[in-house]
Amino acid sequence: MSRIHVTGASGFIGRVMTARLREDGHEVTGSDLKDGPDVLPLDLRDRVAVVALMRELAPDVVVHGGAISGAMLATGDPALMFDVSISGTLNIAEAMRQSGLARLVFLSSNAVYADAATRDPVDEDAPVGAGDAYGASKLAAESILRAYAMTNGIATIALRISSVFGPRRDTPYLISQTLEAARARRPIEITDARSNMRQFVHVSDAARAICLAVAAVRSGFTPVNITGGTYLSEEQIVRTLLADFPSPAISVIVDPSRNDDGRVGPLDISRAAELLGYTPSVDIAAALAELAQPVVPPQR
Ligand SMILES: NC(=O)c1ccc[n+]([C@@H]2O[C@H](COP(=O)([O-])OP(=O)(O)OC[C@H]3O[C@@H](n4cnc5c(N)ncnc54)[C@H](O)[C@@H]3O)[C@@H](O)[C@H]2O)c1
Repeated sequence: MSRIHVTGASGFIGRVMTARLREDGHEVTGSDLKDGPDVLPLDLRDRVAVVALMRELAPDVVVHGGAISGAMLATGDPALMFDVSISGTLNIAEAMRQSGLARLVFLSSNAVYADAATRDPVDEDAPVGAGDAYGASKLAAESILRAYAMTNGIATIALRISSVFGPRRDTPYLISQTLEAARARRPIEITDARSNMRQFVHVSDAARAICLAVAAVRSGFTPVNITGGTYLSEEQIVRTLLADFPSPAISVIVDPSRNDDGRVGPLDISRAAELLGYTPSVDIAAALAELAQPVVPPQR
């Protein structure tokens, strides 16, 4: 059993991973800007507060997930996204250094990868170079953590997680937007396969990967890809999601600004298997059908 501190504990992934870490027998504390059951109030941008909390709790492992999660949330205020991601991550690393804490699991993203000319599998050595504020903020956070790992001995596993889906995700995304449109009998707008292939991972698989990373002892800075093992167009996902729905109207648009899983090939997750023992376990079609359940109208 270890003492774990989770930032972003009131969030979609934070709630699931906190519960799962507790099931694994860990003593877990959580913090967030937003209220939640058993969640300590913390603004990651407040270094004095972050240092005080780390000193007080002295966790064996910090799981750092607090962030503005997703490129779609940066459009109105990219500076806020950079501020939370960069200052927040710097404050966590600095608080850990000052408190002598040595192990961190960071929730990074596959948004760090640069667009690729081919759709070959993408391993952790593939070129990085994000094209939006979200990916750039994660890449900057990774750079800070790499420096603290190399010079201050804070061993960091950065999980480069693809798009996460599942029940109770609050931030807007393809699956909830499709279900909302279907409920309202509105046409569904999706992006074309050339600009936007999707690599969804179920929140229970993402939480399991995080628990495995918490248990894995590594030195230095180790990026690890995490995905659900599928590589599908938005049209394939929407058609699976609404399989029982009477002919939804789907319009396919070309919108280079909507690039949710990067213009790259499928993430190679062999490092996750080798170092963490992670392989995806959720069947995406079954999980999508479960999410669609409430909007499927009764069959005549
Ligand atoms: N959801 C995905 O598809 C996905 C994919 C890859 C990586 N991630 C990363 O995983 C983490 C969790 O994502 P999520 O989907 O649960 O998002 P979420 O928005 O549900 O949770 C993020 C939490 O961070 C908190 N937060 C924001 N600003 C803060 C601040 N200044 N101080 C303290 N807390 C603050 C929010 O209140 C929220 O509860 C994020 O770092 C995200 O970038 C998410």
